[in-house]
Amino acid sequence: MEKILIAGPASQILGVKIAHELDINVINAEVKRFPDGENYLRINLENETLIADKEVIIVQSTGPSASGDQNSRLMELFMMIDSVKRMGAAKTIVVAPYLAYARQDKVFRPGESQFANVIFGIINSLGIDALYVVDIHAPEVLDWCTCKTINIDSMKLLADYVKSKGQNEIVVISPDKGAIERTKAFAKHFGENVPVEVFEKARDLKTGEIEMAGSSNLKDKDVVIADDIIASGGTMATAIKLARENGAKNVYAVATHALLLEQAKFRILDAGADEIIGTDSIDNEASKVSLAKIIADYLK
Ligand code: R5P
Repeated sequence: MEKILIAGPASQILGVKIAHELDINVINAEVKRFPDGENYLRINLENETLIADKEVIIVQSTGPSASGDQNSRLMELFMMIDSVKRMGAAKTIVVAPYLAYARQDKVFRPGESQFANVIFGIINSLGIDALYVVDIHAPEVLDWCTCKTINIDSMKLLADYVKSKGQNEIVVISPDKGAIERTKAFAKHFGENVPVEVFEKARDLKTGEIEMAGSSNLKDKDVVIADDIIASGGTMATAIKLARENGAKNVYAVATHALLLEQAKFRILDAGADEIIGTDSIDNEASKVSLAKIIADYLK
């Protein structure tokens, strides 16, 4: 079946790169806000038969950025899906490397909504054929999706980038006990016996404030701190500070989705990071590693 790709407003560069990898046509979308704040989206075509009977791949990460918050990104995604279905797409494949609200997968305090479940409810109601995400925060939430789902692993790509910097003795740090398995898997890409240390994070559920503890001899070591997301930068900055206090030589702040909100970049660099490394799941200055090829390989 012939494929066509739609590069959503949040993923124009990544979308074009994936289309080029797949050697298929790519179109984008026109977006604006109505005066009352409602989102508007139109797929940039004049002839709707361009979509009919094709396998349509929609690429739209749904992280917040200067050009749109995550609510807008989700609305745009839902509009693109609805639009291509209406135009008669034979198959609708969604690539949303960062899926907004995926961290709201549990009820932490009385009265909260388990909103990730609602997001999947909406996606399910739209009737897509497959959903591709990258390093989703809690992979078990994908069970809430009724279509085929794939959680793409970006760890090797991120490790290869860090390795290209040419370090000597590497220690990989998990800034959270809950992320230890993911961190161990990440560390394997640096070599079988690369040590993994855990810093214990405690976040105040009311204020969001972070405390972290952990001691390890990091003297003259090149330290890689790995997380799935950098949002406010609080987790990463606290871990970097601790790594420096423990004697680290170089410190690399690595995350699949480097949202870098508000003061995050400043906090992380001020804490002592040598470099912030993310993927093009989020299109910003930390997007050092492209997901285009690995995503395209899944879509072939
Ligand atoms: C939390 O469990 C995640 O894995 C990240 O550690 C968290 O989202 C990072 O957020 P922030 O940058 O705001 O500390």
